[in-house]
Amino acid sequence: MPASLFEPGLMRTCRIQSVIVHSPSLKSFYLPSSLDAAPGQFVNLWLPGVDEKPISISGMRDGLMELSVKSVGPFTRALMDCAPGDLVGIRGPFGTGFSPASNSLLIGGGTGIAPIRFLAQSLRDRGMPYALVCGARSRCELIFEDELREWGCRFASDDGTCGICGVVTDLLDEAGESGLISVVCAAGPEPMLLRIMAWADGRSLPYQISFERYMKCGIGICGSCCLDGSGIRVCVEGPVLGKDQIAQVTECGLPHRDASGLRLGE
Ligand SMILES: Cc1cc2nc3c(=O)[nH]c(=O)nc-3n(C[C@H](O)[C@H](O)[C@H](O)COP(=O)(O)OP(=O)(O)OC[C@H]3O[C@@H](n4cnc5c(N)ncnc54)[C@H](O)[C@@H]3O)c2cc1C
Ligand code: FES
Repeated sequence: MPASLFEPGLMRTCRIQSVIVHSPSLKSFYLPSSLDAAPGQFVNLWLPGVDEKPISISGMRDGLMELSVKSVGPFTRALMDCAPGDLVGIRGPFGTGFSPASNSLLIGGGTGIAPIRFLAQSLRDRGMPYALVCGARSRCELIFEDELREWGCRFASDDGTCGICGVVTDLLDEAGESGLISVVCAAGPEPMLLRIMAWADGRSLPYQISFERYMKCGIGICGSCCLDGSGIRVCVEGPVLGKDQIAQVTECGLPHRDASGLRLGE
């Protein structure tokens, strides 16, 4: 069996080269990497002695992979304390990516901006036109605001500190006015994704949506990321799913399962 078949599952260790602090609980980490990754794919990031968790790739440039992370629990809190020179492990890239297409409407919410930013970077590199809207609770939770604005992004924030005061889906009608949209690509909190899918369904637009579920193995073995109704493993057949795949899923918008497999609140 050629060794390359196993390569994505191999752990590679590397040292963090640099860190951008967006806010004390939101940082981007730059790691030397020659991985061939598509926007929407993720890596399993390992912190020795802490844990291993899935993180989307938010950009690839000049031999550096960028990971943008928000502190929400033990792993991401430990990551916030990491500094240039610290050792981490990477497995991947895993999962499916977005299919780049001209006239895509890109929508990112919260940490979902990470894979959408990588997709925008890739479309720009290929000279493919796109429209871009991003939203967050507040300006301090927006990653890469200046760069995204330069790239033509329109913003929404819950508290009005950046862009319109409202949610990112309030920007969809305006973004869709040109009538040129070929596909909708989105990542972010699931209530936002549900509204985007309903909006796209109302206009008969195809979509590619990035889902998040609790993951353990990241390579399709443990079943912890399976979507009810479909058997789709978010780590293998996802995280980016198309309209036909999503139509089979019966748990969109329900509370997520935790590490034990129980749905939160069950
Ligand atoms: C494909 C994929 C890509 C991701 N990309 C990023 C990224 O780019 N940046 C980033 O900051 N985070 C990302 N995440 C989320 C991150 O992996 C989880 O939040 C992780 O569990 C954090 O670990 P923790 O120990 O800090 O917190 P935990 O204690 O594991 O989780 C904290 C809280 O978040 C909930 N939770 C955990 N995982 C998920 C999940 N997948 N979906 C919904 N709720 C969850 C838990 O139930 C808990 O309430 C991604 C997840 C997936 C599946
Ligand atoms: S995380 Fe194990 S099957 Fe997806």
